[in-house]
Amino acid sequence: MTGTSADVSIGGKTIELPTRSGTIGPDVIDIGTLYKNTGAFTYDPGFTSTASCESKITYIDGDEGVLLHRGYPIEQLAEHGDFLEVCYLLLYGELPTKSQKDDFDYRVTHHTMVHEQMSKFFTGFRRDAHPMAVMCGVVGALSAFYHDSTDITDPHQRMVASLRMIAKMPTIAAMAYKYHIGQPFVYPKNDLDYASNFLRMCFAVPCEDYVVNPVLSRAMDRIFILHADHEQNASTSTVRLAGSSGANPFACIAAGIACLWGPAHGGANEAALNMLAEIGSVERIPEYVAKAKDKNDPFRLMGFGHRVYKNYDPRARIMQKTTHEVLGELGIKDDPMLEVAMELERIALTDEYFIEKKLYPNIDFYSGITLKALGFPTTMFTVLFALARTVGWIAQWNEMIEDPEQRIGRPRQLYIGAPKRDYLPVSKR
Ligand code: SDX
Repeated sequence: MTGTSADVSIGGKTIELPTRSGTIGPDVIDIGTLYKNTGAFTYDPGFTSTASCESKITYIDGDEGVLLHRGYPIEQLAEHGDFLEVCYLLLYGELPTKSQKDDFDYRVTHHTMVHEQMSKFFTGFRRDAHPMAVMCGVVGALSAFYHDSTDITDPHQRMVASLRMIAKMPTIAAMAYKYHIGQPFVYPKNDLDYASNFLRMCFAVPCEDYVVNPVLSRAMDRIFILHADHEQNASTSTVRLAGSSGANPFACIAAGIACLWGPAHGGANEAALNMLAEIGSVERIPEYVAKAKDKNDPFRLMGFGHRVYKNYDPRARIMQKTTHEVLGELGIKDDPMLEVAMELERIALTDEYFIEKKLYPNIDFYSGITLKALGFPTTMFTVLFALARTVGWIAQWNEMIEDPEQRIGRPRQLYIGAPKRDYLPVSKR
């Protein structure tokens, strides 16, 4: 690959493809004319070497364990900012001034209620329905309520829909939790910050006042920051693909929620805690590490490994610190799960297999322990991931709509099925 082009030779023909460089990170080869000029497609089923778009929102350096949101390191945002400030940054591209932040907080706070009719949706579900199934259904139904913000060609309507999604996800997530446990819904309160409002909607009951613990709400807010956005991960790519057809933003976010649910993606936080519970004690760790290394065993260490991070996930480090803060604040001394998790991490990080395959703990490894300590059942863990990731999805969706190069996403294939053949009547089969 030269400075500005790459030569591709196929079928005795060589063509020159232009290359592009970003601000930081790998260059790309623009293969847009490849099929027209060679009759061949590229083949990359997991998109391990494929850039789907240009983006200014998030940059990840997997080898160095670096995560930047609009250029700011996740460590600094998690330390100094709050979740709504990160939402503003992801949506608008710059950190807000004091007045911009106050205005943004006010606008989000005053969109937190959902249409009263929406509460009727929940009654159609069984109480033991997985909350992620409820989220897929209820969030998709939002488009039936907000016809005034589904014209995706109108930047104002796009921003209204964006704010509505960020504001209403905590309310819907809390309603899914309350319905799951058979308690009445709790309305948002406008004098609480985003994370405190969410914790109160989840854990308050009509019989007594709910006092927010500032240490726990700060931890919840930081957990939201850590999950806000992550480049072109599977669920974000799902939202972009759904949006490329012109689908309304609420339907696109519902598609992202569905994709995030998978245990290889956002569902890993629930799977990781279930795995730690199944391991149960430090003595049983070697048995599970051996299963994870056994090619014939589908078992994987949930919360380990990553498509991009081949070093420690910087979010996992911050999450581990938050875990200790929350357990300390709650006076949970020797949590058996944490003991297993830390010993499992120590063993895995010194094991030749994990070193060779560059498998490190990812954000989902410690989040489950923290969320369980905060009082959430494991079935709510991916709901919390979806709540936080909504801002990333919606920021990436806006960027896709505004990108002049974006067209409907329509990949091709390598066909390996039957060649053309004639129909046989059943008497001749
Ligand atoms: C998230 O993309 C994102 O940014 C996602 C995310 C986000 O913020 O949006 O970061 C959130 O999804 C984090 C990942 C959560 N998932 C898990 O923790 C589930 C466990 N991890 C694996 O399923 C896996 O590591 C993936 C899915 C995360 C990554 O899969 P890849 O990149 O396709 O890697 P792979 O499956 O091809 O694995 C490479 C090798 C394989 O061995 P070989 O076939 O080369 O011999 O590593 C092995 C795998 O068997 N391997 C593991 C392992 N993960 C990979 N072996 C044991 N345990 C594991 N966890």
